Amino acid sequence: MPDNRFEISAEEREKQTEYTALARTLVESRFEGAPKAFVHTYGCQGNVSDGEKLKGMLASIGYCFTDDVNEADLVLYNTCAVREHAEDRVFGNVGALKSLKAQNRNMRILLCGCMMQQPHIAEKIYKSYPFVDVVFGTNVIHRLPEFVYRSLSNGKRIVEIPGGDGFITEDIPLRRDSDYKAWLPIMYGCNNFCTYCIVPYVRGRERSREPAKIIEEARELVKAGYKEITLLGQNVNSYGKSPDRGYNFARLLREINDIEGEFVIRFMTSHPKDCTGELLRTMAECDKVAKHLHLPFQSGSDRILKAMNRGYTADEYLRLIDLAYSLMPDLSITADVIVGFPGETYEDFVKTKELVEKAGFTSMFTFIYSPREGTKAASLPDPVSAEEKGRWFRELLDLQERIAAGRTAKCVGKTYRVLCEGKAKSGNIEARTSGNFIIEIPADDSVTGTFRNVKVTGAKTWMLSGEIV
Ligand code: SAH
Ligand code: SF4
Ligand code: F3S
Repeated sequence: MPDNRFEISAEEREKQTEYTALARTLVESRFEGAPKAFVHTYGCQGNVSDGEKLKGMLASIGYCFTDDVNEADLVLYNTCAVREHAEDRVFGNVGALKSLKAQNRNMRILLCGCMMQQPHIAEKIYKSYPFVDVVFGTNVIHRLPEFVYRSLSNGKRIVEIPGGDGFITEDIPLRRDSDYKAWLPIMYGCNNFCTYCIVPYVRGRERSREPAKIIEEARELVKAGYKEITLLGQNVNSYGKSPDRGYNFARLLREINDIEGEFVIRFMTSHPKDCTGELLRTMAECDKVAKHLHLPFQSGSDRILKAMNRGYTADEYLRLIDLAYSLMPDLSITADVIVGFPGETYEDFVKTKELVEKAGFTSMFTFIYSPREGTKAASLPDPVSAEEKGRWFRELLDLQERIAAGRTAKCVGKTYRVLCEGKAKSGNIEARTSGNFIIEIPADDSVTGTFRNVKVTGAKTWMLSGEIV
């Protein structure tokens, strides 16, 4: 029997199609011309990909889009809960909407995403922000047409944050942000329960899409002219396990690599405990797969890794990346690390620095630990002061900056096949190498979305400059 635990029922999908039509009629009668929606997404690429679905559903109802919140008839914030800072920004931005709402009777304010999936946050919004019309959680994004219709027709407030394992949302209209770079979610949720992390609580259980659907979507993207496809999941290395798809991530990569055309395949995020030699060999063998591995290690101390429930030691991590470098000498590895996990001592932190010295990351995302309500780590004693953690944080940034500068300097004089991504602030065109380095090149916008060969002529810490050859 096929495992369809995560499917949205045909009946529910039909209902949302009907709501889309109803909302469309209502919108046409209420607004002169197409109303404008301002949609902003915080957080990871998985959330950005959800944002493209939210925009797709709004477009089906008849909304067009604006970057200026002041002229919006509908504001939708798709939020993130991963650190406190992400949440503070949302509260600030939502607060500022009160006066706008007072000027536009037909305006609707909607909040969704990971932050809203937490009952204590939804409650705070309901009580303290009475001008917010709709709050909905990560398990019901496919019901946006219903929420828009109900809110526009009777003006009543809606809060919908059902719990549960979550769904696989297929066949939702998409409005992609780019016409040459695409996000392609291959799975949703997470089962790892790293003790600091809120994601498993707000995103439900790990669930993989059907391989045939993913491969078909990749094929369509390539046919439509997309040049870069990024496969998304919180732990792509466990693709296909739940529900059992009889497929693993390496095989999925191979099949997408077999699609004809010039395009780059990227993926994130990889988890060291599930990253296999088979996957690394597949990466090495597949010419379209970018030679870039984002492999968060989080800490260099085995004691802290254990307390984080990460499932590997620092030594195992280093052996894994040694294998990766030996199979792909030009591989670029990036990582995430947390400073100041509860109970971390300076000795633990020194081990993190030692790992960073050995690993030779091209770049690293460094985060100061942020307690998340409901996670295991949030109840652990945390004696180190914020100032002290701040000092460790800067030490680590300085160290990585030195290492990164060494990595970029080595690129000077080499020629890379790059995908041009559009204008940088400097007026130059930004292009990305397979290893995820950014090269700025003097060129005009006509190269955007195309591959070029570029010779590197200069290097700064995080960025290269070069010219088309
Ligand atoms: N699924 C990915 C990453 C998810 S969140 C993985 O397993 O690596 C992205 C990054 O945010 C994490 O890698 C971690 O470094 C950081 N992060 C998550 N929770 C955090 C917290 N409570 N405080 C500080 N950083 C955190
Ligand atoms: Fe969070 Fe860990 Fe899951 Fe990544 S693997 S999303 S860090 S629980
Ligand atoms: Fe944030 Fe949710 Fe992604 S918590 S990092 S938006 S999965």
